[in-house]
Amino acid sequence: MRIINARDYEHMSRQAANIISAQVILKPSSVLGLATGSSPIGAYRQLIEWYGKGDIDFSAVRTVNLDEYVGLGPEDEQSYARFMRKNFFDSVNIDLKNTSIPDGLNGDAEGECKRYDKLIASLGGIDLQLLGLGPNGHIGFNEPGESFTKGTHKVRLSKATVEANRRFFTDGRAVPEYAYTMGICDIMQARRVVMVVSGRAKAEIVREAFTGPVTPRVPASILQLHRDFTLVADEEALSLI
Ligand code: GLP
Repeated sequence: MRIINARDYEHMSRQAANIISAQVILKPSSVLGLATGSSPIGAYRQLIEWYGKGDIDFSAVRTVNLDEYVGLGPEDEQSYARFMRKNFFDSVNIDLKNTSIPDGLNGDAEGECKRYDKLIASLGGIDLQLLGLGPNGHIGFNEPGESFTKGTHKVRLSKATVEANRRFFTDGRAVPEYAYTMGICDIMQARRVVMVVSGRAKAEIVREAFTGPVTPRVPASILQLHRDFTLVADEEALSLI
């Protein structure tokens, strides 16, 4: 594992965007695994800026997102599908047909999860997976548990995650209790993994995940075993290691 020590959120975002941009320049048809949350927004903003300057071309890129809330459709303001269009897809020349997100409206959980894993396989796997870090150590929506998860699955969100994500549901609606998420195996099979983390509030979980034992109780800790994992974090997030 490699750690890139960034000064602050903006610097972290530029460093992560640099890695993503190098990936796309070297392999224009890259399969990018993408993430939501506030952590990757700065990297998306930077990529949009470089796209605007003509430095990066997304026309052949394919993307697969980590997760989606069960019950929210792509037009729902709080859905991750909408988040991706608003924060990235609508501002670059990515073909929406080449973007995939689990279908939160598919009530057939088993069918949807199988479909998503087949889709990832049909793309040849993920070249670069971008991740944030949940306050309880979750990646995607892989919550702390007794064992590491395998493929895409339906998950009941922990109380901590529902609380942490409440800030996005500003219209007073309840945070969905369930989500579809890629599994730990899907993430570990990505050829390269890049995680962005910032802020003092994440320092303790960063310490646990990357200097503690590898355990399903801290899902991100498995990344210590990934062959090409880069943690891009700011000074505050790294302050305890
Ligand atoms: C959500 C997402 C995760 C993300 C996490 C952290 O739970 N499912 O993929 O990493 O939030 O979000 P933030 O970056 O806003 O702290």
